[in-house]
Amino acid sequence: MATGYFITLEGGEGAGKTTQIKLLAEYLQAKGIEVVTTKEPGGTPIGLELRKMLCTGDKDKFDPVAEALLYYADRRIHVQQKILPALQEGKWVISDRFADSTMAYQYYGYNKRVSKEMLEQLYKMTVGDFYPDLTLILDIDPKVGLARSIKRNNEEKGQEIRFEGREIEFHNNLRNGFLEIAKTAPRYKVLNAGQTIEDLHKEIVKTVKERLINR
Ligand SMILES: Nc1ncnc2c1ncn2[C@@H]1O[C@H](COP(=O)(O)OP(=O)(O)O)[C@@H](O)[C@H]1O
Ligand SMILES: [Mg+2]
Repeated sequence: MATGYFITLEGGEGAGKTTQIKLLAEYLQAKGIEVVTTKEPGGTPIGLELRKMLCTGDKDKFDPVAEALLYYADRRIHVQQKILPALQEGKWVISDRFADSTMAYQYYGYNKRVSKEMLEQLYKMTVGDFYPDLTLILDIDPKVGLARSIKRNNEEKGQEIRFEGREIEFHNNLRNGFLEIAKTAPRYKVLNAGQTIEDLHKEIVKTVKERLINR
């Protein structure tokens, strides 16, 4: 059986990743494709424990290097236990964040205090020669994204605010980081996440058709 495709959605807080993954999964399922939606951190039971460590509590409770190692521990378990098995069963996997988020947050966000080479080596050592087939980067003005995200967290009484609370400079750095990352391989597609949910969904479907379904 042919393996499925691996799609990742990336972007800052409130860009619309979770919203768009749900819509894309529904679209693909309606076409008869089996889809697994997942997220990082926290795509597995152990990952959920790591997610709690990473996304709640004091924003400076560990340094960017320790943080990157925890993200990669989560990622390795996620790839081994969930992503690869599903792809091998012919299912498509859509992940809410993947390795590009670590590069954007821990390298660009923290203004390059973590070495880029270290992150690239970690990828090779823990994930290996395996990459998403398509990475959608939802690009948005951080002020707009954060306002959406804060509103949602208030409504849901969310506790995952270790990153939302950082200064705007951090969020601008990581936005620019994602745009830099997008230039490094053909698998990236940058989309304007400032448009309506419906219009962005249409652009995502168009991209998935062009890059994966009709290729
Ligand atoms: N294009 C959009 N325009 C306006 N609001 C949006 C849009 N996309 C998502 N939202 C809303 O913004 C909030 C954050 O969206 P979400 O999908 O959770 O973003 P992310 O997962 O990227 O943090 C949610 O309340 C969602 O309903
Ligand atoms: Mg989300």
